[in-house]
Amino acid sequence: MYKIAILPGDGVGKEVIEAAMMVLEKVELDAEYIYGDIGWEFWRKEGNPLPERTIELLKETDCALMGAITSKPKKEAEKELAPELQGKGLEYYSPIVALRQLFNLYANIRPVKAYEGNPLNFKENINLVIFRENTEGLYTGVEYRPVPEELEEVLAKHERYKKFVGKEKAISLRIISREGAERIVRKAFEYARENNLGKVTVAEKPNVLRETSGLFVEVARKIHEEYGEIEMDEANIDAMAMWLIKNPENYDVIVTSNLFGDILSDLANQLVGGLGFAAAGNVGDDYALFEPVHGSAPKYAGMYKVNPIATIRAAVMMLLYLGEREKAEAIEYAIEEVVREGKVRTYDMGGNASTLEMAEAIAGKIEG
Ligand code: IPM
Ligand code: MN
Repeated sequence: MYKIAILPGDGVGKEVIEAAMMVLEKVELDAEYIYGDIGWEFWRKEGNPLPERTIELLKETDCALMGAITSKPKKEAEKELAPELQGKGLEYYSPIVALRQLFNLYANIRPVKAYEGNPLNFKENINLVIFRENTEGLYTGVEYRPVPEELEEVLAKHERYKKFVGKEKAISLRIISREGAERIVRKAFEYARENNLGKVTVAEKPNVLRETSGLFVEVARKIHEEYGEIEMDEANIDAMAMWLIKNPENYDVIVTSNLFGDILSDLANQLVGGLGFAAAGNVGDDYALFEPVHGSAPKYAGMYKVNPIATIRAAVMMLLYLGEREKAEAIEYAIEEVVREGKVRTYDMGGNASTLEMAEAIAGKIEG
């Protein structure tokens, strides 16, 4: 029996999780679902959006399914703290970024698929997956403001840094390790191999970021040697954005570093229905967490209005991760059918079905 952590979070997170659970229940996975605390409510009450007990819960489970979390800028966040917690120097942080680091969830996997009949498709025949590195690059969290003197001294030796010496500034480090690049590139090639996909595209910026992107591409070429049957092509990230809009059907698997992947996957997802359809897997070697890409959408909270397909797809990804291919496919076919029929559509698709009506329609296509 699996143990699965369910983290509804805030706002519409609770609603889309309720919807996804209706569908999951239909496939009768042999699992115990354990609900955990995460998000804004716990920031306000406890000064921590990711309580220690939740981290413990994740350690005891096989994987997690998350809804959505609210986040607000530093000052606003502090204002909303319970009175007794104010003025203590507590700082809000993003629980999802923390979880990626804590559990070493180094692969952010973002499928981008045009469901037939989706009125929001920009083009048909799009079916690709973006593999975004999820723990390094500009999300490493090594940032300075102000820049410590010792660091300033070292950097001042660099010709190009001289113009910054003595000025007010902030630095965020883009760190790419060989190991970090290797494991994400390997994940991308493994996925291509398992799914008989012909091509992996490495999207970076080695012409300008000679060292960090340079290392990433160098590693990719090396790993490619182990996957002779798969073609590898290289694109600069800016051109990649253009090509993804121009010829999205030409791509199977795209692999890139953290922030580039963050941006590119939003762009790509908008081609096939946007946030109502975008799901992500945060996958490491020992744990994985699945989530819709959208946020908690406070203005829709309590209205049961948002499209639950993103979260239901996250559940499909979770089933695949667990090796439950048959159940995953049963749900995936059900989503395909409901979208193709076009009878049940949420507001983003131009319809007026509620979150739970959409979930019911999908669950209804699964043979019990
Ligand atoms: C995503 C989100 C996160 C990110 C935010 C919520 C920190 O945009 O999963 O893509 O930037 O990675
Ligand atoms: Mn993002």
